[in-house]
Amino acid sequence: MELRIDDIFKTMRAEMKQASFFDSRPKGQLLKWIGSKYKYAYIIVSYFDLKYNKYIEPFVGTGAILATLSPKIAIAGDTLKPLIEIWKLLQDDPQRLIDYYANVINKYSFDREKIYTEILKKYNSLPNGLDLLILSRTCYGGVVRFTKEGKMSTPIGPHKPIPPKTFADRVIDWRERVKGTTFVNQPFIKTMALARDGDLIYCDPPYIESQSILYGSQYFEFKKLIEEIKRCKEIGAKVALSIDGKKKSGKRVVNLNIPTGIFEREIYLDCGSSMLKRFQVNGKTMVGEDVSERLLLTW
Ligand SMILES: C[S@@+](CC[C@H](N)C(=O)[O-])C[C@H]1O[C@@H](n2cnc3c(N)ncnc32)[C@H](O)[C@@H]1O
Repeated sequence: MELRIDDIFKTMRAEMKQASFFDSRPKGQLLKWIGSKYKYAYIIVSYFDLKYNKYIEPFVGTGAILATLSPKIAIAGDTLKPLIEIWKLLQDDPQRLIDYYANVINKYSFDREKIYTEILKKYNSLPNGLDLLILSRTCYGGVVRFTKEGKMSTPIGPHKPIPPKTFADRVIDWRERVKGTTFVNQPFIKTMALARDGDLIYCDPPYIESQSILYGSQYFEFKKLIEEIKRCKEIGAKVALSIDGKKKSGKRVVNLNIPTGIFEREIYLDCGSSMLKRFQVNGKTMVGEDVSERLLLTW
């Protein structure tokens, strides 16, 4: 394949941007969560147009993209109430998060099974942010998984949870990164309704083929999201969408039936450790190795 000189410069600029976000990303996740974009948040953010008025993230989850971008003004939403409680505690009462984590984790090594079972039972009878935090840091592989009835069902993980001091350091770091953000517990439609001309929106919804088991109890309709993205584009906001790419074999592209004319660029992200083997094809599509997901941009 022949590479044109302006494509090479474009690639170099993208890689310099990635390197700077890589250096400034949070050193460790606040929550351990399998759907988190933490590992490659710096790559996704490097594709954003950084000239925006306010940043909107309607499916904020563990906030990996939000914390990496660290916007001055932002709105972040999610329908999982206990998750938004964690974000609000981080902003309004970080000491409570630090103390709760330290109290539970200091006892944990003596009777881990008993403590995990108690916290899980407590969370399932009354879902709350503090217990969700403990469960996310101690459950098996960070697989925060809910049944259709909204109960968390993941067993205990074999790993040693991060020490209270490490967690406290992350609280301080992450609090600073989200100080300009307003967190809201609401469906994406309501959060996206707050978009105005000049805003930047990043959507990371439950993936069509792989995440219904993780977010089983939450209502999500992909078609509605696409309609909303179209509306936001029409009023002058820029929208980036992460969505299923190819299945593990890499042979089949997940079919999303997205109408034409909404997205201008489709980027296949290499989610492996090496991000260097990417190059541009026809000025539109980036292809990497180990491809597993897509980033679609309306600009
Ligand atoms: C793939 S995760 C987002 C992961 C996030 N980017 C991160 O790095 O952790 C999708 C999130 O959307 C939330 N969610 C599911 N349905 C929703 C809806 N209809 N409106 C808003 N949030 C929803 C889930 O609770 C979950 O936190």
